[in-house]
Amino acid sequence: MQLKFDWLIVLENLRRGLMVTDVQLEAPSGPRIVYANRAWFKMTGYDRSEVTGKTPRILQGPHTDRKLLRRLKEELLNRRVFHGQTWNYRKNGEPFLMNWFCYPIYGERGKPTYYVAEQEDVTEVETLRMREALLRDPGDPTATAFFAVLAEYKASRKK
Ligand SMILES: Cc1cc2nc3c(=O)[nH]c(=O)nc-3n(C[C@H](O)[C@H](O)[C@H](O)COP(=O)(O)O)c2cc1C
Repeated sequence: MQLKFDWLIVLENLRRGLMVTDVQLEAPSGPRIVYANRAWFKMTGYDRSEVTGKTPRILQGPHTDRKLLRRLKEELLNRRVFHGQTWNYRKNGEPFLMNWFCYPIYGERGKPTYYVAEQEDVTEVETLRMREALLRDPGDPTATAFFAVLAEYKASRKK
């Protein structure tokens, strides 16, 4: 007996955000988002109709790490797995730390057909980690920069 398997239900109910793009990396329009799951929409605040065909650059902003994005591009073009973390921004402008794996999915003949990203908002765990770092060293530069980004957003909302 063959078991019925509904892969879309599984993808839609994954705990992690999942986003799939085409393999055209060049700006301004590529890569284009072809699919994102429910966890991804919950994390970013966007709607499905708003992002299909758009690029993941919609998540980027002033504190997004350009060096990391260059590394991402290099890893993908060399068919390697990227793993990294940077500031991204929800639809309402709120910054959050995006931690993600990104890699090509291969079709027939071994050609990359999609790029896939497994994504997670790690702001909460990083907040705890950064608080501990400040307890050890009140001048810790990484932790200071981390809280400055969050404070900047809070201050901008009060205006
Ligand atoms: C599958 C996939 C997911 C991506 N997800 C993100 C993301 O969540 N956040 C982000 O800042 N960039 C993300 N990017 C990177 C941008 O789409 C873009 O490739 C990056 O900015 C480098 O290109 P650029 O230098 O032309 O901007 C993703 C790229 C791919 C292929």
